[in-house]
Amino acid sequence: MTRQFFVGGNFKLNPSTLAASSSLIGGLNSAELDPATEVVIAPPSIYLLSAKESVRSDIKIAAQNCYFKESGAFTGEISPKQLVDAKIPYVILGHSERRTLFHEDSALVATKTRAAIDAGLKVILCIGETLEQREAGETGKVCQAQLKAVVDVTKEADWSKIVVAYEPVWAIGTGKVATSAQAQEAHADVRTYLAEAVSPAVANNIQILYGGSVTASNCKELARQQDVDGFLVGGASLKPEFADIINARK
Ligand code: G3P
Repeated sequence: MTRQFFVGGNFKLNPSTLAASSSLIGGLNSAELDPATEVVIAPPSIYLLSAKESVRSDIKIAAQNCYFKESGAFTGEISPKQLVDAKIPYVILGHSERRTLFHEDSALVATKTRAAIDAGLKVILCIGETLEQREAGETGKVCQAQLKAVVDVTKEADWSKIVVAYEPVWAIGTGKVATSAQAQEAHADVRTYLAEAVSPAVANNIQILYGGSVTASNCKELARQQDVDGFLVGGASLKPEFADIINARK
């Protein structure tokens, strides 16, 4: 099975006004995009509904996070059910900024993933090592532990609702993009692990994205790697070059 090329734009806490968000989506709406690429954008939660109403029909919307409870006294949170009710089909979970800045551990990420899938969402599951862990040769071990937490709470069928995003922490927002060899090795390791931990079919079919300083100038080489099925893009998703990244395989 050929895995569809998938490009996500994680806007993070940007842009800072509704007008700028509308302008960003207007630019995407008028861009010439490869119809073979699956495109998902993740605006800040305050703009999710306006983005869903204004973005072109071939671009899907993702929340950048969600909680695992359906409702209740959880100030500041968004529930999977609310996202499904709002017809927001995707959610990013386990982003390194959630893990480091907001102290989310792999157990919580797994609980959120379980709840998101149960509600009917598709999950962009982020994993990745720090520079210290890479330099210690622990990249595979770290990524496998992050994946195992989710393996332990899912069944094989659930994995059709999951896209994995390998985002080395040392490449996020730094301009230090992983080399194609580094990305390919990490993605191949993820696929090998999932083949053993879940099934060869899941491993073969799952889309594994690379994230971390992807730009128009480095995306084509990365996109040529056999186990790189797309990107999760931060800073460059806010710029016109995001269209070039979406078209990386054109
Ligand atoms: O989720 C994608 C993001 O973490 C990558 O950020 O700015 O390095 O593309 P950036």
